[in-house]
Amino acid sequence: MKANNRTIQNLETDLFRRSISQFALTIFCFALFIFGVKAQNGEAIFKQNCGVCHRVGGGRMVGPDLMGVTTKRSEAWLMKWVKGSQALIQSGDADAKAISVEFNGLIMPDQTISDADIKAVFAFITSNSAPATASVDTVKKKVIPDASLTATPEMVQQGENIFLGSQALANGGPACISCHNIDYKGLIPGGLLAKDLTTAYSRLGGDAGISGILGAPPFPAMTQAYRDKPISEKEITSVIAFLNKVDKDKPNQQASTMNPLLYGGICGLSVLILLILLIWNQRKKHTVKKNIYNRQLKSI
Ligand code: HEC
Ligand code: HEC
Repeated sequence: MKANNRTIQNLETDLFRRSISQFALTIFCFALFIFGVKAQNGEAIFKQNCGVCHRVGGGRMVGPDLMGVTTKRSEAWLMKWVKGSQALIQSGDADAKAISVEFNGLIMPDQTISDADIKAVFAFITSNSAPATASVDTVKKKVIPDASLTATPEMVQQGENIFLGSQALANGGPACISCHNIDYKGLIPGGLLAKDLTTAYSRLGGDAGISGILGAPPFPAMTQAYRDKPISEKEITSVIAFLNKVDKDKPNQQASTMNPLLYGGICGLSVLILLILLIWNQRKKHTVKKNIYNRQLKSI
């Protein structure tokens, strides 16, 4: 009887201890969470997730300048837009459609950050949106000079070589043509994985837009391809010069001589055949028994 009492008592203290430690753990996690959210302020989140395409003051990059956007649009609208701009456009929202038209149907990737983070970003944007009169000055001051205007023919050529892969990238990244196509006189058809870049220069807002993308590619496939192999600043400048030339030189833009789909199909098929041949060559040419048989023949 005594023994039993003791085990029950032990059990009770055990349970008590366990719930205390669980409680402590919960508090600890909660504190960590709060701390984490606080540490990641709006500016840092903006830089990390939006800064490649947007600026707050200073003009357009890939996407619009977001200065004053929080007074122009409602919070509910902004939330919907950031999480799924395409869905909002397709729902028939007039503002969303107008922006999409203004930006030639350029797609803003859906952001997967939390609601709290999105709110923090817009709080940052609000606090950095000066009154209208002041913003005119800052916009004027921050205009980036059009670097591609000062590009030399050598730079344009280097940009073309980098695009085609005839000049390897200094850090070993893949050639752009493996994923992108440009319809231009004298160029071979490129990959179909990603968008055609023939008019990318004007579509993406010129120097600033393209250098933003190449400096820190915001598209998963491209991020992956250049993760440990960043494109150098000099290479970026040359590629911009090349894209600028191709974009401006309308008479020499042309539909590719070969249907790119067909071309891609042929490429894929030849790779497949090569692979099959390789495997076929490495097959065991004789049965094991044949080897044993030969050995025995030799030892006779
Ligand atoms: C890959 C580039 C890219 C990234 C990254 C990006 N955006 Fe955009 N954003 C765009 C483009 C392009 C548009 C123009 C509309 C369109 O064509 O989809 C746009 C439009 C917007 C608009 C609408 C502006 C208006 O006038 O109403 C808001 C708001 C916005 N973005 C907020 C954000 C926020 C916040 C982030 C980061 C969490 C972000 N964007 C990340 C490219 C981007
Ligand atoms: C591994 C494949 C891959 C490689 C290599 C690659 N890209 Fe991309 N790129 C993509 C994908 C995927 C996108 C996302 C949007 C799309 O489908 O075009 C993209 C988007 C872009 C965009 C924005 C296009 C637009 O109109 O919205 C530009 C500009 C661009 N790449 C330039 C380049 C340049 C210049 C190079 C070579 C230095 C390069 N890319 C190499 C896959 C690649």
